[in-house]
Amino acid sequence: MGDIARQAPDKDTGEDLYQYLLERITNLENRNLELREQFRQMESEKRYIETQKIRYERELRKLKSEIEQLRSPPLVIGTVTDVVDNNRVIVRSSAGPRFLVRTSQLIDPDLLKPGVRCTLNQQSLAIVDVLPTSYDSQVYGMELVESPDERYESIGGLEPQIVEIQEAVELPLTKPHLFEQIGIAPPKGVLLYGPPGTGKTLLARAVAHQTNAHFLRVVGSELVQKYIGEGARLVRELFELAKQKAPSIIFIDEIDAIGAHRNDSTTSGDREVQRTLMQLLAEMDGFENRGDVKIIGATNRIDILDRALLRPGRFDRIIEIPLPDFHGRLSIMHIHTKGMNLGENVDLAEVARLTEGKNGADLRAVCMEAGMFAIRSEHETVTQDDFMKAIDKLSLDFDKHHINTSYGAMFA
Ligand SMILES: Nc1ncnc2c1ncn2[C@@H]1O[C@H](COP(=O)(O)OP(=O)(O)OP(=O)(O)O)[C@@H](O)[C@H]1O
Ligand SMILES: [Mg+2]
Repeated sequence: MGDIARQAPDKDTGEDLYQYLLERITNLENRNLELREQFRQMESEKRYIETQKIRYERELRKLKSEIEQLRSPPLVIGTVTDVVDNNRVIVRSSAGPRFLVRTSQLIDPDLLKPGVRCTLNQQSLAIVDVLPTSYDSQVYGMELVESPDERYESIGGLEPQIVEIQEAVELPLTKPHLFEQIGIAPPKGVLLYGPPGTGKTLLARAVAHQTNAHFLRVVGSELVQKYIGEGARLVRELFELAKQKAPSIIFIDEIDAIGAHRNDSTTSGDREVQRTLMQLLAEMDGFENRGDVKIIGATNRIDILDRALLRPGRFDRIIEIPLPDFHGRLSIMHIHTKGMNLGENVDLAEVARLTEGKNGADLRAVCMEAGMFAIRSEHETVTQDDFMKAIDKLSLDFDKHHINTSYGAMFA
C-alpha cells in the first residue's frame, strides 16, 4: 500500500487517483460502520450494567433494612384496657402493670378498643401497632374443615328426631325469613340425649354434612383444663370464632363432662370445671347477640346435667334418641348391610326381631361379626346362619359382661 501511495502522484493519471481515493473512502466508511457497531454494543452493555447496578443497590437497601429490623429491640405485647382520649390509652403490659401511653399517629383510632392486643415500644411504651386477635390453637383444631361423609340416609330409625333437629338447627340458618314472618326467635340449640351407641354423634355429623355452615366440634372433656380460667377462656374463644365464622354450628359431644350438676364440692379441680360451665352458660345466653351460631349438645347422662343448662333459652329443644324399635333396627340393619354380599336366605327382619334392646352400634357389630364368620368358613356370601352365630356371640359377650359386674357388686 505504501508503494501505491508513493507511486500514485508519479502516475499522474486522474483516473488512478480517482480509483485510489474511492477505495480509501469505502475503506474508511467500512471502518466507520464497524466502529459505530462497536459503539452500539458498548452502549447496550452500559445500559445493562446500569440496570444491574440499580438492582444491586435495591438489594443492598433491602438487606440493610432487614439488618436494621433484626437489630431493632423487641416490642412489648400489651392489651388495651381503656381509651382515655384520642391519643392517650391505658394498656396493661404482658408483665402485669398498667400504663398510660400515647399511640402512634398511624393507628386508626377505631381499632383501639378495650381488649385489643397491641405492641408497645420498649422505652416509651407507646402503642406501635395493633395486633389481630388470636385464638388458642386448640380452638382452631375444633373446626371441621372437611365435612364428614355421614348423611341423614345413613341413620336408621330416627326420622322424627331428624325432622326436629332440622327444624331447630338447619331451618334457622337456611330460611331465617320463616321465623321473622311468624315472629318468633329461632331455637338456639338442641340437646341430644339417650343411651350409648344410639346415633347421637352420628346425627350431629350428618348435620355437619348437610349444612353449609361452619362446624366446630368439641368434646366436653377437652374444655377441662389444667390451669384456672383456661377452660373458660377456651369456651369464650370457641364462641368468638363461631361468631366470626357465622353461620356456624358448635357441637359439644359428651357435654356431661363439664355440664354436671354443680354442688358444694371443695376440690379445686371441680371448681374449675364449674367455672368453665358458667362461662358456657353465659355464652349460650348470648348476653351479646350470638348471631347465627347454633349449638348441638350430646350426652348419655341427662340426669346429671345441671338444671341451668336444660332450661329453655339455652338448649331450646331437648331431643331423646331412644334405643331403636323393631323398625328402627331393621332400617339400621339395611344401612349396615348395604355394602355386604348377602346370601339369598338372609332375613334381616328376623335379625331385627332377635336383637331386641340392642343399639345401633351393637347392630353394626352384628353385621361385622357375621361377615367375619363368613370369612372364617370361606363362604362367598354372608348367610342367615352367620348372622345367627354373630347374634349368639354378641349376646354371649354381653352376658359375660353382666356376670363380671355382678361379681364386682358382690365384693364391693
Ligand atoms: N341409628 C343408627 N343408624 C345407623 N347406624 C347407627 C345408628 N346408631 C348407631 N349407629 C352406629 O353406631 C356407631 C356409634 O354411634 P354413635 O357414635 O352415634 O353413638 P352415640 O349415640 O354418640 O354414643 P355415645 O353416647 O356413647 O357417644 C355409629 O358410628 C354407627 O355406625
Ligand atoms: Mg357419641
